[in-house]
Amino acid sequence: MSITFVSESRTFYLDGKNITYAFFIDPHDIPEHLYFGARIPHDDLMHIRAYGGGTFDSTLPGEDTHVGYGLLAPEIVQYGIGDYREPCVQIQNAGGDRICDLRFTGFDILPQKPAIPGMPSMDGGETLVLHLADALNGFAADLYYTVYDDADVIARRIVYRNEASVPVALRRAYSFTLSLPGQDYEILTLYGAWAKERHMERIPMHHGVVSIDSKRCSSSASLNPFMGVLSTGATETTGEVFGFSLVYSSSYTLKAEGYHTGETTVTGGIHDFDFTWQLGAGESFATPEIVIAYSSEGIGGMSRAYHDAYRNHLINKRYVNTNRPLLINNWEGTYFNFSYEKLAAIVDAVEGTGIDTFVLDDGWFGKRDNDRSGLGDWIVNENKLDGGLRRLIDYVHSKGMKFGLWFEPEMISEDSDLYRAHPDYAIGVPGRPRCYCRHQYMLDLTRAEVRDYIVNAVNTILHENPIEYVKWDYNRNVTDNFSLGLPAERQMEFAHRYALGLYDICERIVEANPQIFFEGCSGGGARFDPAMLHYFPQIWTSDDSDAEERTMIQYGTSIVYPLSSMACHVSICPNHQTGRTTPFATRADIAHLGATGYELDTTTFTDEDRAAAAKQTEEYRACQNLILQGDLYRIDNPMESNFFSEAVVSKDKNTAILLCYRRMGSVNNDVKRVRMAGLDPAKRYYVRELDKELSGAVLMQIGLVPRFARGDFMTVKYHMEVR
Ligand code: GLA
Repeated sequence: MSITFVSESRTFYLDGKNITYAFFIDPHDIPEHLYFGARIPHDDLMHIRAYGGGTFDSTLPGEDTHVGYGLLAPEIVQYGIGDYREPCVQIQNAGGDRICDLRFTGFDILPQKPAIPGMPSMDGGETLVLHLADALNGFAADLYYTVYDDADVIARRIVYRNEASVPVALRRAYSFTLSLPGQDYEILTLYGAWAKERHMERIPMHHGVVSIDSKRCSSSASLNPFMGVLSTGATETTGEVFGFSLVYSSSYTLKAEGYHTGETTVTGGIHDFDFTWQLGAGESFATPEIVIAYSSEGIGGMSRAYHDAYRNHLINKRYVNTNRPLLINNWEGTYFNFSYEKLAAIVDAVEGTGIDTFVLDDGWFGKRDNDRSGLGDWIVNENKLDGGLRRLIDYVHSKGMKFGLWFEPEMISEDSDLYRAHPDYAIGVPGRPRCYCRHQYMLDLTRAEVRDYIVNAVNTILHENPIEYVKWDYNRNVTDNFSLGLPAERQMEFAHRYALGLYDICERIVEANPQIFFEGCSGGGARFDPAMLHYFPQIWTSDDSDAEERTMIQYGTSIVYPLSSMACHVSICPNHQTGRTTPFATRADIAHLGATGYELDTTTFTDEDRAAAAKQTEEYRACQNLILQGDLYRIDNPMESNFFSEAVVSKDKNTAILLCYRRMGSVNNDVKRVRMAGLDPAKRYYVRELDKELSGAVLMQIGLVPRFARGDFMTVKYHMEVR
């Protein structure tokens, strides 16, 4: 039993793998938080409720005693009833007031976690549904909690319900409130930009609100929908760490608030900026899920909790643990400038390298000779691709390889047949000039007829051609937020309706093509979020394919996302983004810490390159299972040092790899010890590169001394196994 209700104290204990979450229903029917952290026995916890406070604290509505919401740690913070923290919910009743007071009315324990209709979420087992209702206005909320026996996370979300006979406006509808004791924390975020995704930033917690958000109708490269709350000074391996990862792809916010009670309250979900949802009588509104992780073993422990949770319960089950295509993508090799002959030559040139999939990137459809035209016209451009798609696909197949194709389904070019026929499909306010981005507009996914067009156009290509792989791109963010399909009073539903429209087309395209492997992309990794991973088992991590910069991007991405979700390619040098030259072997070693591939013009390969690529792919295949399914241990952080080291250890702790990278070579400063992590100290490991057996204890306590070759950007890799 993972969920226990003790009726005498009205306390709920939710036990996960190594965690416990506890709260109780107080005498006023308010669910009050007690504890979230390492697994504890089901002791009575009432002594921790302190109820401090002073004269400016208000009472509970209608009860002139000393107890008020502001002194409690409710499971949901509400507005207008004496709690001045960031509310989790704010409604506007038909009469204009914004007050609600949700109290406990009952609960259900479900053996199986229900899915959220129309939105991706984790699957899972036992789930507590806590029912709350306002006795006066018919507003109600169901708080969902799911714990897992194989991951140290709890999944939470709320369904808001209007049980009144009149509409209510939801002005804010976050997914959770969680109070953490004390304020001695640092906040960890993953900020970035195009080609600089998911870099780590730590800031001290303070009184007031620390918040992150996106107003882009996309989870964005600017700030990933994740917030870490770290005990001050927590490291990769030490300290208590809480993680908050939102399973959502549109505008969001996450906030941590240092309140005068001495606690830190975390909340968030769908962004309430530019949001109001009209909830008609009898209607309900489901929030996206927040996945809250706990680790007593530092940031690394939290990451492994997320990796397990997302691999086991969120990412497309058909593909999460299967070997990935080892592909050649033509984008950096040709950009828009290709012909059938050129592509066939790229395919010919990979013969013998072990590369097994060819992915045709942007430029194959409509009048797409550059990025100013063609988006929306998902019809092959036979002028460019002589013989059509089929000829190329057949050729790729004749070489024993699989075929992949690029789409950008959510977009429309002004210079396209689609735009000429349906200018109204593009997002924008009639009569007002729209913003371009990469010379393109966005399709209004809030409208059913637009979604139907996209699904039909993409599925037609996929059904008419034997395609095994799709790269789904998204190269700009929403501007001119307005839909011709929504009445004026519903325009502020746009950002969330965009997300629902996106999930709808993903569902209808991904599910209609179960034989196809889908990769996500967003001008690099600008929509790298848990919701997208539900459909796309891997996502292009960044348009920055420079091995040096990738160490930081991949390190930061792994804070939440497993290596199996990161698409990483070996590209040409000098690198197209940074102009830097790094060794071929280094590029492969860094790119092989993920779902790998190549992205260059292989017709420039020398025999030596081809032989090197063949060796690289052979090595990758030999440890692909480890990369996809193993436990990640980050050892050296390239954002803080001249080194980047990561180890991946199999679940049974019998095999491991360790990759060490040194950025700058230097004279007389070369001795670097890298202490392995994650091994079983009692087991003995054969270290292939040393031709020597060492105990896990020695490998972890003393470590290894990688002998980097002279020069910059060098790697050393170790393979270890129990024989
Ligand atoms: C984005 C992607 C690239 C490539 C181009 C094509 O930038 O991230 O990998 O597909 O679009 O236009």
